[in-house]
Amino acid sequence: VVIDVLRASTTIVTALQAGAAAIHVFGDVEQLFATSERFPAPERIRGGERGGQKLAEFDLGNSPLDYTQTQVANRQVFLTTTNGTRCLEAVQNAAQVLVGALINRQAVAEYLIHTQPQQVWLVGSGWEGAYSLEDTVCAGAIAEAIVTQTQTALGDIAGNDELVAAVSLYRQWQEQLLALLKISSHGQRLLRLNAQDDLAYCAKLDLVDLLPRQKEPGVLVAR
Ligand code: MLT
Repeated sequence: VVIDVLRASTTIVTALQAGAAAIHVFGDVEQLFATSERFPAPERIRGGERGGQKLAEFDLGNSPLDYTQTQVANRQVFLTTTNGTRCLEAVQNAAQVLVGALINRQAVAEYLIHTQPQQVWLVGSGWEGAYSLEDTVCAGAIAEAIVTQTQTALGDIAGNDELVAAVSLYRQWQEQLLALLKISSHGQRLLRLNAQDDLAYCAKLDLVDLLPRQKEPGVLVAR
């Protein structure tokens, strides 16, 4: 389960909810252009960001609020971001790849409760290889939903100490997720770019009942 609360995984969930046909993720801008050129212009839309800022020559940046029905319905979305899409590329050979955010936390938890996979990795995208608060709290929120809804002890499902710490973080901040996002380092970066509305949206819990899954390497669709 790839998590990039600020903002790639929130954007992917939102775009699919708005009716995008599929999201094609790329770490590399040139590869994105080469692949997206094969689709007729009216059928495609390109989204790109580095350091939180929209890339030139792209239709959209990475604000989930820009991925509206008018922009993306029935279109192929080609997306490149600083960390989230690179993280998705890094795990694209896993047996199953899903996308999690705070806004679809319950959809992720329900799927895992229902399918009971033997092993699950909750993969925080972080920031350029470093830890991030927002992805960790989301991993904790997913695990907490599983623990409470299956009445299981955390110690019986946690595969490592990181997950126990993630659940503790969530329990501490669950009533103040927006406040936590605002003090996170990437939250601070986005606030400097005037993305207050994005933070408020990304902090909402269980807003969207949709689970993106990888259909083929690098291509995500609604489950
Ligand atoms: C990322 O992939 O690092 C993020 O989504 C950056 C952003 O907020 O646009």
